[in-house]
Amino acid sequence: MKWKIANVEIDNQIVLAPMAGVCDSAFRSIVKSMGCGLIETEMVSDKAIMYGNWKTKEMLYMTDYERPISQQILGSDIKSLTFASKYIYENTNVDIIDINMGCPVTKVTNRSKAGSALLKDPFKVKSIVESIVESVATPVTVKIRSGWNKNSINAVEIARIIEEAGASAITVHPRTKDQGYSGKADWTIIKEVKENISIPVIGNGDVKSCFDAKRMIDETDCDAVMIGRAALGNPWLIKESVDYLENETLPSEITIEERIEMLKRHVNLLVENKGEAFAIPKMRTHAAYYAKKLPRTIELKQQIFKMNTKEDLFNLLDDYLDSL
Ligand SMILES: Cc1cc2nc3c(=O)[nH]c(=O)nc-3n(C[C@H](O)[C@H](O)[C@H](O)COP(=O)(O)O)c2cc1C
Repeated sequence: MKWKIANVEIDNQIVLAPMAGVCDSAFRSIVKSMGCGLIETEMVSDKAIMYGNWKTKEMLYMTDYERPISQQILGSDIKSLTFASKYIYENTNVDIIDINMGCPVTKVTNRSKAGSALLKDPFKVKSIVESIVESVATPVTVKIRSGWNKNSINAVEIARIIEEAGASAITVHPRTKDQGYSGKADWTIIKEVKENISIPVIGNGDVKSCFDAKRMIDETDCDAVMIGRAALGNPWLIKESVDYLENETLPSEITIEERIEMLKRHVNLLVENKGEAFAIPKMRTHAAYYAKKLPRTIELKQQIFKMNTKEDLFNLLDDYLDSL
């Protein structure tokens, strides 16, 4: 089903979650080839953009193929967040700017007072959103958690503030900062947020199959479903979810050969985009995710982590296939 975030048309209800260290252009292209409706980048730091950090600026690389695409920014200072948003708007083809108000990492929340720490400061949330909305012409969205801890669940209050401040959509990952990634995402909070605001709500958390994606929409009435961890090393989940939501098509089995082929394609894209030296650590990370769905996972992962070149990795994968 088509839907919109302000003027941005989105072909279906599946959204790729922003994931630091993994959602680079190579992974996003793979996910796009699976038909993902909206793709979100990994987060970039506002201050790093403001101070001209070249590595961060390289992270802004995106292709038109990946569009519609949402770039996520992280920060807590209104001036630098606004500066960074403007920079992204003026220097990329981004369709949406998303503000991270969910990151639970202690360094981010305690030292920078960013990510989910902002949930404790509704006035600041309002000022940040208003300022960014005023300074860019793209829609602005915000990704939140359910609250700081179990005694301060305030997703509905924060969502209302964000809507009033002019944001065009909200993503809800219904775990508290204290929970990190433990426990279960409480989808009833997505439903509550949806009932209390008029802008689109993207539900997120623990979607591991196309059936979960459908169940999240049925149970919460959210406008779209964001998938994160379960798509790592398993981009087919995106296509399965799109197909199941659109036509109730049931997923078919992905063969070992298809998984290895996809991993090679992924590695080739990483090397094309970043050069082999830079791509190697990423290549190992992604290869380990793909290995999770392959026989003899532990042994394969251990071998993957020893690989230092693309050629070595591809030889390892060919030998592995022959040995099955
Ligand atoms: C490796 C990793 C990196 C992440 N990086 C970000 C990030 O940069 N910004 C963000 O808002 N959330 C980030 N998240 C959280 C995910 O976007 C998502 O909210 C969370 O994983 C729950 O969804 P899931 O159950 O589908 O994985 C990250 C999660 C993981 C596992």
